Amino acid sequence: MAGTRDSTTTPAARAAGQVPRVGRAVFVAGATGYTGRALVAELRRRRIDVVAHVRPDSPRLDEWRQRFESEGAMVSTAAWQDDAMTEALAGVRPAAVFALLGTTRSRMRRSRSGERSSYEDVDYGLTALLLRATLRAAPAAHFVYLSAIGVGPRARGAYLRVRWRMEEEVRASGIAHTIVRPAFISGADREESRPLERMGAAVTDGLLRLGGALGARHLRERYRTRTAAELAAELADVAAPG
Ligand SMILES: NC(=O)c1ccc[n+]([C@@H]2O[C@H](COP(=O)([O-])OP(=O)(O)OC[C@H]3O[C@@H](n4cnc5c(N)ncnc54)[C@H](OP(=O)(O)O)[C@@H]3O)[C@@H](O)[C@H]2O)c1
Repeated sequence: MAGTRDSTTTPAARAAGQVPRVGRAVFVAGATGYTGRALVAELRRRRIDVVAHVRPDSPRLDEWRQRFESEGAMVSTAAWQDDAMTEALAGVRPAAVFALLGTTRSRMRRSRSGERSSYEDVDYGLTALLLRATLRAAPAAHFVYLSAIGVGPRARGAYLRVRWRMEEEVRASGIAHTIVRPAFISGADREESRPLERMGAAVTDGLLRLGGALGARHLRERYRTRTAAELAAELADVAAPG
């Protein structure tokens, strides 16, 4: 079926040389998100082989495929199941795996019936599945988990709690890893409007500017809002320093 064609495995892709170099490519889960899209573009700009993962039931699958393939990335549509994800990763044996998945309250409200949509299901469940698959198929990979500021053992709220649990699993797994805890990821180029996020980012950045003017520059740099492109450049350094 054309809609679920996996460009990391089609004979046509192999014939055209569009196959990831085993052991050299980077696998991006959450590639369709604000950060994921920017990361795929940034990695391709650096001429790194990229496999962008798109869920097979995505209503925008054809659009994503066109976009990523036009950037020179390959697309995996492996199902979010242990065996399927393990097989997809085994075929690529990526040097790095990025976990950029997450849901939001508004996504939960919009979710289709039967769709996995809670923080437990997505932010924890899918990321944990990705980690398990990586440990089985590509244990030498560097696992990069995009967590969030405020995550810690005493964090409150479902979002922060599941992320702390996930961070603990990454640390306990023994895999080489980087955990990134950004503050707001926001910019005019985000497709969704997310007014609360924009407002929170503006207020926080205003306070940080004030703090920066008073000498707290390191705090400002650490906690300021990043656009997806800025964050992507920092994330890409993890996959390919320099
Ligand atoms: N936004 C912020 O200010 C902020 C701050 C700190 C940390 N973070 C964290 O950073 C990460 C990336 O943020 P972002 O703003 O780039 O995220 P985003 O734009 O909301 O993208 C989320 C990604 O997760 C995927 N996803 C969501 N629900 C899914 C499901 N049920 N099944 C499969 N895939 C699913 C989406 O795929 P589809 O496109 O197929 O739905 C998309 O690729 C998130 O984990 C977020 O919690 C965000």
